[in-house]
Amino acid sequence: MNPFDLIIREHTLILDLLNALEKKIPTIQKQEEPPCFLHDVLDFFITYGDKTHHGKEEDILFREIGQKNLKENLKKTLAKLLEEHVEAREKIQKLKTLHEKQQKGDTNAHTEIISLLKSFITFYRKHIDTENNHFFKEALSHINEKELETLSKECAEFDRSMIHEKYKQAVQAMSQ
Ligand SMILES: [Fe+2]
Ligand SMILES: [Fe+2]
Repeated sequence: MNPFDLIIREHTLILDLLNALEKKIPTIQKQEEPPCFLHDVLDFFITYGDKTHHGKEEDILFREIGQKNLKENLKKTLAKLLEEHVEAREKIQKLKTLHEKQQKGDTNAHTEIISLLKSFITFYRKHIDTENNHFFKEALSHINEKELETLSKECAEFDRSMIHEKYKQAVQAMSQ
């Protein structure tokens, strides 16, 4: 599969999760969702959204696009998207910390979790919109067929290693 199509397909799954999360905000607010729901949301954004999706964007596609002779506006968008990945990581880390605090009985954490979830949904939809409708469309014109093929193979290899990486880290964490 063309690596750009692959990334856009991953965006669809992330958007589906954001929509599901948005629908659940009222029940999360009333504390009617089991704690495992947020745990699963965190796992999705850490393992899939960040390590798998941002991983391929940063280590493969952005790396390749960054080496091209880009127009100034595309260079700026690339820099902004990278900054947003850092911001997304920080937000998810904050959500993880708040979730842990809440699990330990910190009642103040709840309000912060709700506002963080709402802001994350808006922030991340905008990030995907920039990538789908602006950045990747223009960036694709800089990549030839042979490069697409190589990138495709790299992406497949990256994905293949991901499940092993996840459980290697899980075993390391359980061994501590
Ligand atoms: Fe991204
Ligand atoms: Fe993306």
